[in-house]
Amino acid sequence: MVVRGTLAIGTFTALLSYVTMFFSPVSQISQLWTAYKSALPAYDRIKEIFDLKQDYHGEDKLILGNGKVEFENVCFSYEIDRPILHEFNATFEKGLNYIVGDNGSGKSTILKLLCSLYNPDNGSIKINDQDISRINKKDLINNISIIFADPYLFDDSIYENIKIGNLSASKNDVIRAAKLVKIHKFVESLSDGYETQIGENGINLSSGEKQKIALARAILKNSSIILLDEVTKSIDKESRDSINEVIYNLKNEKTIIIVTHNNNEIVSDGNIVHLQQEQIESKFEKQVVIKHMSPERAII
Ligand SMILES: Nc1ncnc2c1ncn2[C@@H]1O[C@H](COP(=O)(O)OP(=O)(O)O)[C@@H](O)[C@H]1O
Ligand SMILES: [Mg+2]
Repeated sequence: MVVRGTLAIGTFTALLSYVTMFFSPVSQISQLWTAYKSALPAYDRIKEIFDLKQDYHGEDKLILGNGKVEFENVCFSYEIDRPILHEFNATFEKGLNYIVGDNGSGKSTILKLLCSLYNPDNGSIKINDQDISRINKKDLINNISIIFADPYLFDDSIYENIKIGNLSASKNDVIRAAKLVKIHKFVESLSDGYETQIGENGINLSSGEKQKIALARAILKNSSIILLDEVTKSIDKESRDSINEVIYNLKNEKTIIIVTHNNNEIVSDGNIVHLQQEQIESKFEKQVVIKHMSPERAII
C-alpha cells in the first residue's frame, strides 16, 4: 500500500511499532501461564501447612520443683508402621543423666520429644510431675536448652551469637558466660574481639569454638534443663574436656541429659539410660529396652 501510495510511510512505521506493542503483552500472558503452572505445586505444599491442625499449646506454667523428668510408656513413630520408641520408660533426675545406644536407636528423638518438637503417640512425658502437653509451649522452651552435634550459629558477630540466649543480658553477662566456657581468651585474641563476624553458620570457627559459643548461649539462657546431643562428637580433646568440666559444674542446679557415644565422658555419679534395639517379628519393628546400669559397669 505504501508502494501504491495509498498508505503514508509514517502510518506504516506507526503500525509496525503498534504490532510490537501488541505482541509483547500477549507473550507475557503465555509466560504468566507457565509461572502459574509451576507455582501450583508450591501452593499445594503451602496449603498443606496452613491446613494443619494447630498444636494444643497448653496453658499451665511450668513449675520446675525437683527438676525430675519422666517418660512413661512413651510410644512414638515418625512414620506409620515404623515405631521408634515403644513403651519407653525412663526417669532423669536433677544432675547428670546419660543416654547411650546405637545409631538410630532414638536418642535424639527422646530429646526432641522432651522439647515438644514432636508429640508422643501414646504415654506421657512429665517434668516435676506435670505433663508437658499441658504446659505452655513458650514456657517450656524458655526452660529448656538443647545443643546439637552441629549447633546452629547465625551469620553475625560472636557477641550476638551468644546474646541470643538471653536478649536482655548485658555485655558483662555475655563475657561472663564466655569466660565460663573458656572461650573468652580466644575471642579477645581476635582483632575484632566479640565483634568478629563468624560467617555463615560459623564457617570461620572450628567445631570446638562453635560448640563453646553454643554452650555459652545456653549458659546465658540459664534454663533449668539442658539437653546435649553428642556435642563433643567432632571436637578436639582440649575443647571436650573444658566443655565437660562446665557441664559437670552445673550438675547441682540443673537437670542435664547428655547423649554420648564416648563412655569415658560418663561420670560415676551419673544416671545412665541405655537404649537397645531389638528386632521383633517385622523387619522394622523395634523395641526399646531400658536398663539402669550401674555407672561403674558403664565406664570402659
Ligand atoms: N524426622 C524424621 N522423620 C522420619 N524418621 C526419622 C526422623 N528423624 C529420625 N528418624 C528415624 O528415627 C530413628 C531414630 O532417630 P534418632 O532419634 O535420630 O536416633 P539416634 O539419635 O539414636 O541416632 C532413625 O531410624 C531415624 O532414621
Ligand atoms: Mg542422634
